[in-house]
Amino acid sequence: MQEIKLTDVRYRPKYHIAAKSGWLNDPNGLVYFKGYYHVFFQHYPYDAVWGPMHWGHVRSKDLIHWETLPIALAPDQEDGCFSGSAIEYDGKLFLIYTAHYNLKEDGSKSYQEQNLAVSEDGINFTKYQGNPVIKPPLANNTENFRDPKIWSDGQDFYCIIGGQTLDNRGQVLLYKSHDIYHWTFEKVLATSKVSTVQGTMWECPDYFEINGQKVLVVSPQGIEPDGEFYQNHHENGYFVGQEKEGNFIYPQNSFRELDRGHDFYAAQTLLAPDGRRILIAWLDMWEQKYHEQADGWAGMLSFPREITIEDGAVRMRPIRELGKIRRETLLNESTAQGQYTFSSPCVEVQFKAMQDLAFEFTRGFEKLSISYQNGKFLLEKTGYKQRKITWKMETLDVQILSDASSIEIFIENGPVISERFYGEGDLELKFQSTKDVAVKTYRLEL
Ligand code: FRU
Repeated sequence: MQEIKLTDVRYRPKYHIAAKSGWLNDPNGLVYFKGYYHVFFQHYPYDAVWGPMHWGHVRSKDLIHWETLPIALAPDQEDGCFSGSAIEYDGKLFLIYTAHYNLKEDGSKSYQEQNLAVSEDGINFTKYQGNPVIKPPLANNTENFRDPKIWSDGQDFYCIIGGQTLDNRGQVLLYKSHDIYHWTFEKVLATSKVSTVQGTMWECPDYFEINGQKVLVVSPQGIEPDGEFYQNHHENGYFVGQEKEGNFIYPQNSFRELDRGHDFYAAQTLLAPDGRRILIAWLDMWEQKYHEQADGWAGMLSFPREITIEDGAVRMRPIRELGKIRRETLLNESTAQGQYTFSSPCVEVQFKAMQDLAFEFTRGFEKLSISYQNGKFLLEKTGYKQRKITWKMETLDVQILSDASSIEIFIENGPVISERFYGEGDLELKFQSTKDVAVKTYRLEL
């Protein structure tokens, strides 16, 4: 089969990760290995739609300049190589991924188990002969059993897997191994209490520590909208808690969304050599209109974000390496309202406002506007329902990253809003407030 070809580059991101052509969804296997950050991703190279899953692969020395490497995993004995993670062990790079098997014509059910693949050079991977290393659990879990996230405490290996109880609640299952090849089930680390409130299936778990606190990230399916919350087709959020005697202790009702935009899912993290916890997500949502499909590709990843916990909540900010791609300053002024045109969509816009603020981006057929007044953000985007985000703030400190088909809006101490944003031609920005706003804009280029 031939890889699908790009027919137009109008929506291709300049400084975000995308497959060189074909389909991309979840980021997988985020890891720092022998001088490079590696990012793998769910990938179908033969068409711009989801298909039998491969692992695409890019690497970077600085989280900014990405080099595309050969496809790391292709399904052969499996029907799909679903999401998973990576770890360095014994000088080698290990991938643990979900081997997905489709429903068969003879009526046998679909199922999922976990496999290993190993590489010496971080480029060529060999599937382990003894796969699967983790078989589906026997008790209280449906056929949904996927997206292993592996880590080590220096002595043993641990792995959490996304699952679903027999009564359709999401759960995360914890496994342990002393040698990475032999795994035993330890316990259920966390469960959705009520399927409609916390999800029917938890995909893509991640579990890590920041400043002595434990964070469990999950991508639940099946949460019903609740007021202004959970407006996406699936959600991506987290719990913050403590680990006591191997148990994750967390307030059961404390699930919070990581990002309040329309296009954010399946976030995963890695630990950088300098101790920063870096998060990358799929900058899309299932079942949307992906305009770039017309051009031979679909899907991109978020700009990498540094995450911290402040006042018990996860905060995300663009990685500081962003400074490397800031070119000339396009705007630097203080004014109560403005209107500007940028010939390239690759810009960073910063606003510092003392009170209410409204801004709007327009590009061809696309329009995205955000206003903040009386403790509420109002988000409007062409073709989508209005969205309200209640968030009390004294002043506004906003950082916006625009690329060829995305806009990510980081509000300091406030929500992060991630959006695919299409259109062609010039990017227009308008804003206004009742007081002067400090606005600064850089052109971004690799
Ligand atoms: C999440 C997900 C994962 C699965 C993968 C398949 O978006 O559904 O649970 O492993 O995508 O591509």
